Amino acid sequence: MVEKPEPGASPERFSTEINRDVPVAAPGEFEPLALGSKLRVWPPVLLAPMAGVTNPPFRSLCREFGAPLCVSEMITARAWLRGNELTHLLASSSEDERPRSFQIYSADPDEVREFVKRIAPGIDHIDLNFGCPVPKVTRAGGGSAIPLKPRLLARILRAAVGAAGETPITIKVRMGASNELSTWRDSGRVAHEEGAAAICLHGRTAAQLYSGDANWDVIGELVEASKIPVLGNGDIWECWDALRMMRATGCAGVVVGRACLGRPWLFRELAQVFNGQEPGPPPTVGDIIPIMADHATRLMDFFGPELGMRQMRKWGVWYTKGFHGSSAVRESLVRVTNLEDMLSALSKLNQEEPFPERALRANRAKGSRKQKVVLPEGYLDDLNDDTPPKGPISEAELAAWDKALGGG
Ligand SMILES: Cc1cc2nc3c(=O)[nH]c(=O)nc-3n(C[C@H](O)[C@H](O)[C@H](O)COP(=O)(O)O)c2cc1C
Repeated sequence: MVEKPEPGASPERFSTEINRDVPVAAPGEFEPLALGSKLRVWPPVLLAPMAGVTNPPFRSLCREFGAPLCVSEMITARAWLRGNELTHLLASSSEDERPRSFQIYSADPDEVREFVKRIAPGIDHIDLNFGCPVPKVTRAGGGSAIPLKPRLLARILRAAVGAAGETPITIKVRMGASNELSTWRDSGRVAHEEGAAAICLHGRTAAQLYSGDANWDVIGELVEASKIPVLGNGDIWECWDALRMMRATGCAGVVVGRACLGRPWLFRELAQVFNGQEPGPPPTVGDIIPIMADHATRLMDFFGPELGMRQMRKWGVWYTKGFHGSSAVRESLVRVTNLEDMLSALSKLNQEEPFPERALRANRAKGSRKQKVVLPEGYLDDLNDDTPPKGPISEAELAAWDKALGGG
């Protein structure tokens, strides 16, 4: 059943499959996630890398709600090595950010080696992105095209692990380019052979983008096949889903993406259920407004007042999703230029209304589109080839990066 959108709202699909018939964690039921010899993550929950989202201000907010490991948005190695100013800003973190976790995007082992060598000393965890489904990237042999060539994947990972010293390296992959071009088994094998500390599997193919349900069965199959910890990713919408995924698949930790867009307190609920406590009642509008003001202030401190408030516009849409009368308020929120206007728009909402249950599982970004994955001509002819993609990839990488920054 799909709930009717409120009058005037653009049609949104709300899943009603809410399963809260899940006991909180029993003492000792789950262990801290071990990444390498030093890093221990409790609860075993990561904030997923999200371009245009997991910047330093949002990571700091999530940390305050108890997120123990917050991965940066993908940082394009080439752009960073070329000294791109915005890339360097996004690759920065506050002095007190601990642990510091960084996602790298590159298809070139030499570039990865150089980048990791330079950043690893100040970083506690590095993730490599092999799941990007953006057509410009896969068409040039990057992102989720890379695991189709396991020897190339191995070369890139080897370069990172070799340069990282004690900093644990993980990889993040999808199930494959498409159902026909499945790569997760090879990725799991390569991750182990080349010394990755863990592998994160998003239970979708690149062709699926963000559509359909994430396939948790495949996450469970990878757990069985893998000799290193597996992090499960896809469709953790509520704290209960994290427990369900860990129990169903045996994965060592979960990675939370879209659910926390406009719901950073989800990490408090996750910490509660993993520590054996029932989560508190959902926040009301009156509780959420100060969180939004705090978020906007952090964005303005980091990006400057103008860009910070412009960034806050999309967050305003996510924070208010599903509240009564919110579609009218959102019309103002997508135009706000300062904090006062944002607060004035929010004052029109019923301050007592609790966070709507029907919005818990509402897709906050990326929609339900699918795609045909485009690969370079002849790409599948020699899957043993380990030559990094050359030429157009640099443009593609940078374009993907720009697009990701502008989007979200
Ligand atoms: C706005 C947005 C940006 C994303 N950017 C990245 C990224 O930079 N690197 C990456 O590995 N995955 C990225 N992803 C994918 C997420 O990390 C995650 O794998 C995906 O959203 C599935 O998890 P979820 O169902 O919990 O959202 C992005 C997803 C969204 C919604």
